[in-house]
Amino acid sequence: MIRVDGRGDSKSLIQVRGLTKTYRRGGEEIHVLQRLNLDVDKGDFVAFMGPSGSGKTTLLNLLGGLDVPSAGGITVDGDEITHMSGSKLTHWRARHVGFIFQMYNLIPVLTAFQNVELPLLLTKLSSSERRHHVETALSVVGLRERMNHYPRQLSGGQEQRVTIARAIVSDPTFLLCDEPTGDLDRKSADEIMALIEELVGKHGKTVLMVTHDPMVAARAHTTLHLDKGVLVEASQLEQGVVAGGVA
Ligand SMILES: Nc1ncnc2c1ncn2[C@@H]1O[C@H](COP(=O)(O)OP(=O)(O)OP(=O)(O)O)[C@@H](O)[C@H]1O
Ligand SMILES: [Mg+2]
Repeated sequence: MIRVDGRGDSKSLIQVRGLTKTYRRGGEEIHVLQRLNLDVDKGDFVAFMGPSGSGKTTLLNLLGGLDVPSAGGITVDGDEITHMSGSKLTHWRARHVGFIFQMYNLIPVLTAFQNVELPLLLTKLSSSERRHHVETALSVVGLRERMNHYPRQLSGGQEQRVTIARAIVSDPTFLLCDEPTGDLDRKSADEIMALIEELVGKHGKTVLMVTHDPMVAARAHTTLHLDKGVLVEASQLEQGVVAGGVA
């Protein structure tokens, strides 16, 4: 179950408590996240929405250990990541987080196979074990036949599928997607969303996804809105229950 009141079960897969992020630019402080709470269970699929600049990417970066909070804590599967240092955090990230961004971030001089293999080079797997994992991940996204193609030989939707294969190849604890369909036409976007739904429904993955597209958000189990630095459930927004919330 997904909760935003900070009263989730201590067994939640992801527990966020009092998460605060303040950026300083010149003499000015920008309060992006303000004591935000979130609980996500294994197998949950949550969509984050909110206006540009509301802090969605900031939140994903903190959840993925790419940035450090100003205050508050994040626990994933019992690990408190907020106080982890550089190399420990790098290893934690490689083991537990799969990233899928709007810009595919594939390396142009590497084939689909080599791009997907990259995260596994940080592990102790042998090259034949790596090959097995890469081929499995590319099969899941339906691109096994294209594994020797370079990114420029693939369509946008196919490139995004390679990104998804790369994100799942190490069997991470959860997937973070920042506008995964932002650069795609409707048909390719539908295919990518069908794939993400399959990862959740069939493979039991936990997915946290940012999107501007209500049709994409509708695929998730729950939609949460970032509003004034905290998360609000869509139903509460609609009913205007939130104190001082949207009219
Ligand atoms: N490294 C940084 N230094 C200073 N300010 C930053 C930094 N990163 C983000 N911000 C500010 O934090 C706020 C939230 O940014 P963020 O990128 O999280 O928004 P977002 O909700 O993802 O927006 P979008 O929908 O446009 O992607 C913005 O006001 C942004 O300018
Ligand atoms: Mg963003």
